Amino acid sequence: MDIVLLGPPGSGKGTQGSLLAGQLGAKHLSTGDLFREILSNKSHPLYSKVQIIKEGKLVSDEVVNLVVQDGIKKPEYQNGIIFDGYPRTICQAKALDQMLSDMGRKIDLVIDLNVSQDVILFRILGRLVCPKCKQVFHKKQGLSNCPNCGEGLVSRTDDTEEVIVKRMQEYEANTAPLHDYYNNSQTIHITLSVDDTSLSVKGVNDQIMAKLKEKGIIQ
Ligand code: AP5
Ligand code: MG
Repeated sequence: MDIVLLGPPGSGKGTQGSLLAGQLGAKHLSTGDLFREILSNKSHPLYSKVQIIKEGKLVSDEVVNLVVQDGIKKPEYQNGIIFDGYPRTICQAKALDQMLSDMGRKIDLVIDLNVSQDVILFRILGRLVCPKCKQVFHKKQGLSNCPNCGEGLVSRTDDTEEVIVKRMQEYEANTAPLHDYYNNSQTIHITLSVDDTSLSVKGVNDQIMAKLKEKGIIQ
């Protein structure tokens, strides 16, 4: 099954993407994680092209589409992909339609995580990530090491108030138009609205799974 997770920074794409991948037997693909991996390797050929993420601006469509096209040919992506952070522009959405069509596949579902701005700020400013296995946590969980692999948890360098504002602007200008793109397509599109901090990770996941059942996507 191929699923696109849409939503602003901090809406829970990474958190739900990794859960859904396990639940649906698909592979989670986060372009943000791929770019942070590239940034950790100065000799990577795309190192200079992805520096821009430190400012909260988007990497060029040309580079992103190439990275995704190369990535999804790997065998581990053959049973379905949970796309997190891709597509992020209309150009990328069209490229993804073409890539999947070339593989005899199509997007089965778009999940829109619609989260209010105060919840987003609370989440992002408290986020901790595992640099090794990429799992995402929150300071309120009181963890200093990753419970999965033991690595020390760190904050992301783009999780500062200044860069978050830029990331939100990029989302509104370039990614929000994808709502109309997918609403006007044949793709099944579900929306989850979260406007307080009381809906837990499991609560959101339960709602997604319930909607998948309701739509007949899973049993
Ligand atoms: P990316 O890494 O994708 O960042 P983003 O879109 O800003 O999204 P985030 O990763 O910040 O948030 P998320 O929605 O994954 O939330 P999370 O699950 O972590 O991209 C980074 C940069 O790379 C971009 O700014 C851009 O420069 C570049 N880039 C990437 N893709 C690109 C593309 N396609 N084109 C061009 N450029 C691209 O959750 C956030 C926090 O909340 C965590 O602490 C989590 O534990 C917590 N949390 C989640 N859900 C809940 C809940 N229900 N209750 C309580 N806490 C929760
Ligand atoms: Mg993420």
